Amino acid sequence: MRLSSDQMYQYERDGFLVLENLFSVAEVEALRAAFEADARVPGPQRVLEDGSDRVRAVYASHERRPEFAELIRTPRLLGPVRALLSESVYLYQMKINAKPPFGGDKWGWHQDYLAWQLADQLPAPKLINVTVLLDEATEFNGPLIMVPGSHADGLLREDRADDHRSEQHLDPDDIALGQEELAALAAKHGFHSIKAPAGSVVFFHPEIVHGSAPNMSPFPRRLFIATYNATDNVPLTPNPRPRYLVGRDVTPLEPLEAAR
Ligand code: SIN
Ligand code: MN
Repeated sequence: MRLSSDQMYQYERDGFLVLENLFSVAEVEALRAAFEADARVPGPQRVLEDGSDRVRAVYASHERRPEFAELIRTPRLLGPVRALLSESVYLYQMKINAKPPFGGDKWGWHQDYLAWQLADQLPAPKLINVTVLLDEATEFNGPLIMVPGSHADGLLREDRADDHRSEQHLDPDDIALGQEELAALAAKHGFHSIKAPAGSVVFFHPEIVHGSAPNMSPFPRRLFIATYNATDNVPLTPNPRPRYLVGRDVTPLEPLEAAR
């Protein structure tokens, strides 16, 4: 899996890159089934929607399910990650945002790196997010919305809300950007919503401004997100967050050999 120079340039310019249909229907079905099984496992790795027993997000499925352990090492993801970020990367975080039908809540406008700088004392934004769409993303089911080029503006906020939702996992609402900032960003960069078939992949920068609306449609919007960090950029905090939130194994990941 090699990116063209055009694709590399797009990522640098826009802060994200979409590759459609990297995974087959059968592969996506297997991932969905693995997720649904993992979403039934109780524990702190499972975050529920406010006031509901429906699953909002599940962390670290790769520690419980072989399908996700394999996915984070597939050359289809790791090849571009190594080309765009560094040859030497490890898994910083893995989560699946479920955004269930009829009520999956929004993800406020934010920049990921601020969360990791505040919570983990991560020295630099030397990371990349890789999402695999487990459902088709449409205008109806709360697709991810990017502010193209905003990664080049650097961090636009410095702190975390005093009344944050959780000590451990950082909800985007805790670090959300203000309305005036968003209006200025929209005027400067515009918006781009990621609408693509299930099995498509989006690579995105840790400083790009992004968010997504609630899902009031009858369709789920399950999104797998793996965050890879450069191995020379480990967290400095003396009080690391739990392992399901922040990976501790900094051994460089090797792509699986078979054509997967
Ligand atoms: C979303 O699932 O729409 C937001 C993802 C994220 O910011 O991590
Ligand atoms: Mn995010």
